Amino acid sequence: MRDQIVAGNWKMNNNQSETEFFLNKLIKQTKPTDVRVMLAPSFTQLSQAVTILKNDRITVVAQNMNAEFSGAFTGEISADMLKEVGVMTVVLGHSERRAMNHETDEVLAKKVKTALASEMKIIFCFGEELGHRKSGKYFEVVEKQITKALFDLSEGAWSNLILAYEPVWAIGTGETASPEQAQEMHAFIRSLIGQKYNTSLADKVSILYGGSVKPNNAKEIFSNKDVDGGLIGGASLNIDDFMAIVNSF
Ligand code: PGA
Repeated sequence: MRDQIVAGNWKMNNNQSETEFFLNKLIKQTKPTDVRVMLAPSFTQLSQAVTILKNDRITVVAQNMNAEFSGAFTGEISADMLKEVGVMTVVLGHSERRAMNHETDEVLAKKVKTALASEMKIIFCFGEELGHRKSGKYFEVVEKQITKALFDLSEGAWSNLILAYEPVWAIGTGETASPEQAQEMHAFIRSLIGQKYNTSLADKVSILYGGSVKPNNAKEIFSNKDVDGGLIGGASLNIDDFMAIVNSF
């Protein structure tokens, strides 16, 4: 049985008082015991989130980290710095960082290795752009992203990985992949892992869908065989919407 996961990605939203307000409401909610809930606030709110959630099962996640362990990288945050404030999981490869911060598959491969060497867990994001979807190249693009960043890892390393398929054309646009499109891609990803490693490993990897998941479409998307939950942007900023999605399995 794979982990079912709902991870909220707050992006550059929620300052200190907003974080306090949201998390104090969140800890009072009754949550399903069979769903792992995760939240990625901005760097400045990580420590605060860890403190407020210390008696809760919610995992606090960082939205990024640098590929190097330390050094002259102004404005950057290392794996060690995250761990020191109690954050053991990091999102890598989000499409906004690929597009705006020029994070290539090569850079991401290095970040993945640094995170694993630092004994961190990873939510690894990837997905095709609209042009790739329209030209029918989406399987090819996704295969390349996964292969370059992840397929030289040992089988053992995969217990620290959660995958998040996020078609770029569905992120923040209100346009979602149809449940069939999501299932088709997730099954493809699982078959790639099965071919490269083995099917028992492929069966254990949680693959999340991300891109305009909302309370009104989460259940349909999550009900697909190979969809193990979601990475939620916009809807994770509203406690009622977020909880409705957490309760959508
Ligand atoms: P969205 O963002 O839910 O607002 O589309 C998803 C994401 O970027 O992870």
